[in-house]
Amino acid sequence: MAFASRFLFSLAATQLVLDAASRTSAQLVSTGLSVMFNDVYYYISPYSSGELVISLTSLSSVPSVYGFKPVTVVQEAVTLSGIPSLLSNWTAIDDVFQPEFAEAIFLAGAVGSALTNQVTVADGFSSLVLPLSNPNISSGPYFLEMATGSLYPVYRLYDDFAGAFTEAFLQTPGGTFQTLSAHIPGSASLTIGVPSRLYFTKTADKPLAGVRIGVKDIYELAGVKNSNGNRAWYNLYPAKVVTGTAVQRLIDAGAQIVGSQKTSQFANGEEATADWVDYHSPFNPRGDGYQDSSSSSSGAGASIASYEWLDVALGSDTAGSIRDPAGIQGLFGNRPSHGLVPLDHVMPFSTAFDTSGFLIRDPVLWDIANSVLYGDNYTSLAEVTPKYPTTIYTVGFPTNSSSSLAAPIMNNFVDALANFVGGTVTALTLEDVWAASRPPAAGNITLSRLLNITYATIIGKEQTALVRDPFYADYAAIHDGRRPFVDPTPLARWAFGDSLSDSALDDAIFNKTLFMDWFNTQILPPINDPVQCSSGLLLYIGSSGDQTPRNQYFSTPPLPLGFSTGRISIMAECPDSVYPLGQVSANSSITGHEEWFPVAVDILAAKGCDGLLAKLAIDLVAAGILPVPEVGGSIMGGVILM
Ligand SMILES: *[C@@H]1O[C@H](CO)[C@@H](O)[C@H](O)[C@H]1NC(C)=O
Ligand SMILES: *[C@@H]1O[C@H](CO)[C@@H](O)[C@H](O)[C@H]1NC(C)=O
Ligand SMILES: *[C@@H]1O[C@H](CO)[C@@H](O)[C@H](O)[C@H]1NC(C)=O
Ligand SMILES: *[C@@H]1O[C@H](CO)[C@@H](O)[C@H](O)[C@H]1NC(C)=O
Ligand SMILES: *[C@@H]1O[C@H](CO)[C@@H](O)[C@H](O)[C@H]1NC(C)=O
Ligand SMILES: *[C@@H]1O[C@H](CO)[C@@H](O)[C@H](O)[C@H]1NC(C)=O
Ligand SMILES: *[C@@H]1O[C@H](CO)[C@@H](O)[C@H](O)[C@H]1NC(C)=O
Ligand SMILES: *[C@@H]1O[C@H](CO)[C@@H](O)[C@H](O)[C@H]1NC(C)=O
Repeated sequence: MAFASRFLFSLAATQLVLDAASRTSAQLVSTGLSVMFNDVYYYISPYSSGELVISLTSLSSVPSVYGFKPVTVVQEAVTLSGIPSLLSNWTAIDDVFQPEFAEAIFLAGAVGSALTNQVTVADGFSSLVLPLSNPNISSGPYFLEMATGSLYPVYRLYDDFAGAFTEAFLQTPGGTFQTLSAHIPGSASLTIGVPSRLYFTKTADKPLAGVRIGVKDIYELAGVKNSNGNRAWYNLYPAKVVTGTAVQRLIDAGAQIVGSQKTSQFANGEEATADWVDYHSPFNPRGDGYQDSSSSSSGAGASIASYEWLDVALGSDTAGSIRDPAGIQGLFGNRPSHGLVPLDHVMPFSTAFDTSGFLIRDPVLWDIANSVLYGDNYTSLAEVTPKYPTTIYTVGFPTNSSSSLAAPIMNNFVDALANFVGGTVTALTLEDVWAASRPPAAGNITLSRLLNITYATIIGKEQTALVRDPFYADYAAIHDGRRPFVDPTPLARWAFGDSLSDSALDDAIFNKTLFMDWFNTQILPPINDPVQCSSGLLLYIGSSGDQTPRNQYFSTPPLPLGFSTGRISIMAECPDSVYPLGQVSANSSITGHEEWFPVAVDILAAKGCDGLLAKLAIDLVAAGILPVPEVGGSIMGGVILM
């Protein structure tokens, strides 16, 4: 296979000239090759990692497909006798490598003058060991093109059975993207490819080297078309040429972006059965497998709860779009302090509320990924001893630990947290504190009146202007004045925006600011001490293990009115992170059997104290107070029902 080469059509002998076009060179470009090796599906990248000097006959015993042979490169300084241990370590840490790649091993240095050696790798399995002539190729499995001596990287192929992705990517060596052209068995699902973890070494410059990330389909990437959850949008606009700052930071830190992930339409909250008209909502793997995966970072949550082969998902949170999928699936997730992560080249929902954050299982990686995403706006406390705030507020926590299955899990956690930080817990009723300390400009208005229509007003006014109006105009221009199809939920919210006067947006920002300034001085002011940062922590219930099966019907979408605990951070602009606490066992209406449903808490800190919240997760896991969630049917792992 001639990779990325041009093939010149020249039928000189017969002088056959077909037409003018046939005399220019036609482009024949490889998009990679898929193969099956020992019942494992692999994809061979079309981008060579380098070349070897090889003897054509020396690998005659190694199997071959289209002139490619599976081989292994070892740059480590190991002796022949150390190879079996090295390969067994590789098999343990990398899902792409399998020992059969080691029928031929190219080993740096250690071989000496002998051209070939045999080494017994495992029972009844011996490798041919050859000298490695190129110091520039990372260790790991490759496919060697015998005709050229070029080594091509290997990706393992996985079925996206949760329906979490909208497109599978191959990240090019230059950091742009093309569609991964591979498909393995799967029922109406995409195939995702992940490169061997062995190719990558984490360094100070590349703290995310080889970390596999899925990106919500509202982030623009060079070479990729977006859908924003809307088919008309996908088909209307061309692939982007620029990758936005947020995703580019991840790429520059070594991350491997493996695909774009489903969002409910234009990042508006949608219910699985009722609202996802254009695309099918992803599957939440927890419990009975038929709970709503929540939205709008739906693919992000479903994938991180389902796939061991995926490390991180980049979502966005305008009013719960990271926190809700994280909570319901028992994952860590963060809504950052507003404004700290640049959102250029990301579809806007509301400039006042939009944030970019992660859904993830590993709290240590969470802190590292945050450091990369936020750049200078993040202070990692991973290497220091923080001074945790001793003021702990709860909002809406159960007063009676027998009142629900989740109540003792919630209350035990608060006690353990208070004990861990040496703090005291105060149950807050925000309305009461507001009534006692609200600013004079608020008159005697209650919070639920002040903020009742604030969120709906801001998103309704902003998304119509920033997204809908240009979209409708562009669509109409090429479709004879027609309107594109849009799901019921965004339509209802946009219509609400249209119904308001022009001054409504200013009124809403005024109300939001009134609350923000009050909250950030009266409830959670910052502290001028970098290892504490926040005067307190405020907790509310993220997920109480309740069931929301995805097969229930709803009436027409309601407007997102009212004020709730989930809206505190969006109005106050402070960080709000989700922590899995445990799970409850309850009878499922789907299976008629006891199943596990996750329980999660949200913790807020003062604006700008995001690093404290990630460090808290690391420390509470180390103290055995928080679990590290697994992929599978429960946060402790297990079979995913389908
Ligand atoms: C394999 O891993 C073990 C345990 O981490 C380590 O002691 C050993 O040195 C490793 N072997 C090689 C060849 O790297
Ligand atoms: C390895 O990389 C160095 C530096 O880029 C280059 O000079 C050298 O030619 C490369 N070696 C091979 C065998 O490709
Ligand atoms: C940090 O946040 C500020 C305020 O929102 C923003 O202007 C700046 O671009 C951010 N810096 C980085 C490195 O992202
Ligand atoms: C706590 O809730 C349980 C179950 O609902 C109830 O039986 C019990 O009386 C409640 N206890 C108190 C002190 O309210
Ligand atoms: C709020 O103030 C208005 C007039 O300033 C008064 O009529 C009303 O009764 C007050 N409402 C409450 C709940 O105090
Ligand atoms: C919130 O706004 C809706 C729509 O205007 C209204 O029906 C409802 O009574 C309001 N609720 C409060 C608490 O103000
Ligand atoms: C702003 O707050 C006032 C009460 O102070 C309320 O009447 C109004 O509906 C609010 N407007 C918005 C857009 O939030
Ligand atoms: C569980 O639910 C199923 C179906 O809803 C019902 O038939 C069954 O009796 C329930 N089991 C228990 C132990 O409640």
